[in-house]
Amino acid sequence: MSTYLVTGGAGFIGSHLCEALVARGDTVRVLDDLSTGHRSNLPAGVSLIVGDVADPTSVAEAMEGVDGCFHLAAIASVEKGITDWLGTHRVNITGTITVFDAIRREGTHIPVVYASSAAVYGDAAIVPIPETELCVPLSAYGADKHGCELHARVASHVHGIPTVGLRFFNVYGPRQDPKSPYSGVVSIFCERIPAGAPVNIFGDGGQTRDFVYITDVVGALLAAMAVRPTDAPVFNVCTGVPTSVQALAHLIAELAGKPLDARTQPPRAGEIRHSLGVPTLADSVLGLPARVPLRTGLAKVLEWITGSAR
Ligand SMILES: NC(=O)c1ccc[n+]([C@@H]2O[C@H](COP(=O)([O-])OP(=O)(O)OC[C@H]3O[C@@H](n4cnc5c(N)ncnc54)[C@H](O)[C@@H]3O)[C@@H](O)[C@H]2O)c1
Repeated sequence: MSTYLVTGGAGFIGSHLCEALVARGDTVRVLDDLSTGHRSNLPAGVSLIVGDVADPTSVAEAMEGVDGCFHLAAIASVEKGITDWLGTHRVNITGTITVFDAIRREGTHIPVVYASSAAVYGDAAIVPIPETELCVPLSAYGADKHGCELHARVASHVHGIPTVGLRFFNVYGPRQDPKSPYSGVVSIFCERIPAGAPVNIFGDGGQTRDFVYITDVVGALLAAMAVRPTDAPVFNVCTGVPTSVQALAHLIAELAGKPLDARTQPPRAGEIRHSLGVPTLADSVLGLPARVPLRTGLAKVLEWITGSAR
């Protein structure tokens, strides 16, 4: 049994990770400012420190006596990076360095598994995208996530802190807030389509995404914590299966047993056409099992949204 700090643990991905850690008997401490996360997301037994991940005092307090840190706190929004460039940078980069620096100051060398993003790739020349593809982010969010990876290298190579970065593709699952301005297409479609509400499809709907279910993401986080590498690796967390936005809408309508009312909107400026990762490096190094099929994962989201599994 170990003690872990989960920054951003009250959020969508963090709260599922907390559940898995508690279920296997670990002690869990969460540092979260509750800006998008919710206290009610946390399972019983988790201790919550309400604080800012970019505040060295809060982070040092939260880090005391832990065996490892999952660093997920971030402003997880490309849009917010446009309207509040400096503010998101402070949380997303300064917050990450604050985590590494707290460990450096303590001299504990505890491992850190942190959330990166497929946004580091920008509009990749090679699709599906392997980890060796050049990082050319197109957003402040993606640039900051790439910056986190570079600082993780510093943490590892200069300060001897084991780090693993996980480049999440489009994560979906229960508890992803469809009302949040930053929520993903799955949670929005899964809320609107069963209610008979129209959904917007931008452009021809042929843009594809790599949708990875939350339990697969939690599995990758847990496996990454066990690695404790010295070379600050990064891994795609994805399925390698492309799904178009159009196909996603139809599948959700079919699962919900409702007709699809799709409204075509003009294409969004700068939207990446295809985002698809190569999962094989994570599979082999982290030993990840087969992913949850999209149909199965969507059925669980619909079940949660309609209230039966809340
Ligand atoms: N959901 C996805 O598809 C996806 C894809 C790629 C990367 N990621 C990354 O995964 C991580 C978790 O994302 P999520 O989808 O669970 O988002 P989320 O918004 O649900 O979770 C982020 C959590 O961080 C907290 N937080 C924000 N600013 C903070 C601060 N200054 N101090 C302390 N806590 C703060 C929020 O309150 C929230 O609980 C983020 O780093 C995000 O960038 C997510």
